[in-house]
Amino acid sequence: YQQGNIYDAIGGAEAVERLVEAFYKRVGQHPDLIPIFPDDLTETARKQKQFLTQFFGGPPLYIQEHGHPMLRARHMPFPITPTRRDAWLECMAGALDEAEIDEPYKSSIYERLTMTANHMMNTEE
Ligand code: HEM
Repeated sequence: YQQGNIYDAIGGAEAVERLVEAFYKRVGQHPDLIPIFPDDLTETARKQKQFLTQFFGGPPLYIQEHGHPMLRARHMPFPITPTRRDAWLECMAGALDEAEIDEPYKSSIYERLTMTANHMMNTEE
């Protein structure tokens, strides 16, 4: 497969839906993440579905509604420490399992998200 085909390969919109739901269920319960996320994660999850859809090579839903992601800039209001980076990735690893994203896509997705998460860190502990 090619990177642009991951979206179709994992099962398209339904797979992204399962992944994002499983992810924010974990985020909403993670002691390191609760302080910086809103109580109601509905809108956050909606935006993340749009973003991951295009990140995986599907339709550019995020850009269509919000313009260029500029993810690092959009995260600057939130103190993202190495601990929070690890927590985010831990939630994502659990979600990839729960959503039954199969190999080799699971590892490929996790690798790309690890690089993006590293880029999102903006402060020390
Ligand atoms: C929004 C935290 C990494 C994609 C947010 C928000 C927080 C956050 C607090 C705001 C939620 C809201 O107000 O609705 C973190 C932390 C990360 C991280 C702690 C750890 C490294 C990532 C990564 C991605 C990502 C790796 C990309 C896959 C997004 C998107 C939004 C968002 C698309 C919505 C932006 C918008 O408002 O349009 N994140 N994030 N985040 N995050 Fe992250």
